[in-house]
Formats: sequence, C-alpha cells, structure tokens
Amino acid sequence: MKLKSILPVALGALAIGFGASDLRAEPVDDKLIIDGEKEMITRTKAPEGHPFDEVLSGWLFRTPETRAMEADSFQNPAMLYVERGAEIWNTVDGAAGKSCASCHGDAAESMKNVGAHYPKWNAAAGKPYNIELQVNDCRAKNMQAEPYKFDHADQKALVTFIKHQSLGTPMGIDLSQGEMKSWWEKGKDLYYTRTGQLNLACASCHEANAGKYIRADHLSQGNVNGFPTYRLKQANMVSLHNRFRGCIRDTRAEQPKAFSDELMALEVYVTWRGTGLSIETPAVRQ
Ligand code: HEC
Ligand code: HEC
Repeated sequence: MKLKSILPVALGALAIGFGASDLRAEPVDDKLIIDGEKEMITRTKAPEGHPFDEVLSGWLFRTPETRAMEADSFQNPAMLYVERGAEIWNTVDGAAGKSCASCHGDAAESMKNVGAHYPKWNAAAGKPYNIELQVNDCRAKNMQAEPYKFDHADQKALVTFIKHQSLGTPMGIDLSQGEMKSWWEKGKDLYYTRTGQLNLACASCHEANAGKYIRADHLSQGNVNGFPTYRLKQANMVSLHNRFRGCIRDTRAEQPKAFSDELMALEVYVTWRGTGLSIETPAVRQ
C-alpha cells in the first residue's frame, strides 16, 4: 500500500508502543462472504483526494477466528441485537401510541440501504444527522416518546437493526447537500490534529501506522462500515461515537460528547474515507 504522506511517529507514540517498523503485517488476502452467500466489498479503490490508493475494511486486520465469527451469522453474537432491534421496531411506545412500524412498515423494505448513506444533511436541524439522531427525532416528534440516552441498549439494538438492512451495500454519503462539505472539512482538520498527552491524531495511528501492531492490536485504517460493532473484548455492542471516544481517550485527551459537533464532523469525514466499502453491520472486532 502506498502512502502519499507519512507522518513522523510522535514521541508519545513510542510510550504506548507501536511495533518496530518491521512489525508491519499485511492485511489478509481473504474474502468475507456472509453465510457463504453474500460477498462483502472489503477492499476498494479510494475516492479522489484520499491519502491511500485503496480503502480496506477492518475485517481484513482481524484474526482468523474473529473473521470466521463475522462470516457466519449463527456464530455472530451481534445477531441477537439485530433480533432485539426488530422487536423494538414493532413495539408501541410513547404518548402517540405508535411503533416505528406504524409509519415505516416492513424495515426490510423501508430501511433497505438507508444506513449506507448516513450521515445525511438535516435541513431542519442545520447539521448532519446520523441514524441515532434521526431515530431520536422520530421518537420525540413522531411518537411523543423520550429520545434515547446515548448508548442505551435499545438505541444500539435499533441502530444495529437499521444498519443491518444495508448489509453489503457500499457506503456513500452525499456531500453536496446543505453544508456537508464544511462539516467534512472540519472533520478532516480534527482527523489530523494531534491531541492529548500522547500528542497523537487519528492519522498518527490509522494512516501513518495502519498495518502495524500497537500492543497486541493490528491497526486498521479505522473505517466505520461495521458499526455498531460487536467487540469481543467488551462482550457487547459498541456504537461509533463510543469507539471514537475510546480512541481519543487512548491519546489521553479530553473526550468530546457523543453527537457533539466534533464527533459528528469526524463521523462525516471518516465515513467518507470508507467510501465504497460494504456495510458489515453487525461486524465483529477484537
Ligand atoms: C408518525 C410516523 C413516524 C413514526 C412513528 C416513526 N417515524 Fe421515522 N420518519 C417519519 C417521517 C415522516 C420521516 C421522514 C421525514 C423526517 O425526516 O422526519 C422519517 C424518517 C426516518 C428515517 C430516515 C429515513 C431516510 O430515508 O433517511 C429513519 C431511519 C427513521 N425514520 C427511523 C424511525 C424509527 C427507528 C422509528 C421508531 C423508533 C420511527 N422512525 C418512527 C415518520 C415516523
Ligand atoms: C493510539 C492509536 C489510535 C489513535 C490515535 C486512534 N485510534 Fe482508532 N483504533 C485504534 C486501535 C488499536 C483500534 C482497534 C484496531 C483497529 O481496527 O485499528 C482502533 C479502531 C478504530 C475504529 C474501528 C475500526 C473497525 O474496523 O472496527 C475506528 C472507526 C477508529 N479507530 C477511529 C478513530 C478515530 C476517528 C480517531 C481519532 C479521533 C482514532 N481512531 C484515533 C487506535 C487508535
């Protein structure tokens, strides 16, 4: 893989131990075919203006056991959350006496491919919306129900269920709507800004050191196409903003709030970086 720009490894990075330069391991040459039927796009040509030639799914950086677990939906522990999401979809909640299904019907049709094109510009809110924010809007305005608190188990299950309706669909967001381009710019700035006591940017790990080992973890390009993702380490579903916050915490910087302008801008930019990769939700990661 060719890099157009190689950032110098920060001194701080040494403190947390990137592998020596020869500890780079290539992503595997393997195909992700869910249940032997549905092939995912796990590597594809990068969009114009991307620092890499090729964008790669995080799946290619995981162990054979983890990869196998994602490829078999009977083994994938996150499929339980998809089922739970389907239940919530059909359950009446709130003062209006409605469920999601009351308005949207069968999610297999109404939500097909929807998740692959988020974040999306929301004109009323004057900012990009991800699926979590859209769901909360529907709960508040259309159901007269309480919006979910960040990372409520039902929020994760419902978002997992909605994203799963795009399984296999290449990610692609529309930057021509509203002010999406300026949010993309802001996200890009943040991606390259070093923060925290360790003075690391997202790019220090996921661009300059992608493919290397950090502790026992094989660093990927940090793509978002598998979220919400099942993490074996946590034995739980992890939302995208939880993952962003975790990565920022690892630089020992203050973590922005979930759905803050900072994390929404990062979501827009990082989603664009994975343009063309299949939605794998629910992915399985370490
Ligand atoms: C009373 C009807 C109603 C209910 C109930 C409702 N929604 Fe919606 N939903 C809408 C309408 C209308 C839109 C499109 C306009 C908008 O953005 O508000 C929408 C938009 C959406 C979208 C974006 C679709 C796209 O193509 O971008 C998602 C996702 C969504 N709703 C999920 C849900 C979920 C999940 C629930 C249950 C928690 C729910 N909605 C409940 C009416 C409803
Ligand atoms: C200190 C190094 C480090 C920094 C800095 C860092 N990350 Fe990560 N990140 C990791 C590691 C390790 C993982 C887990 C292995 C992997 O997929 O790369 C990870 C995983 C991810 C994933 C999940 C990838 C997948 O396939 O599931 C995303 C998304 C991500 N990071 C985004 C970011 C963003 C955005 C930033 C900047 C705000 C950032 N990371 C900063 C180390 C870092």
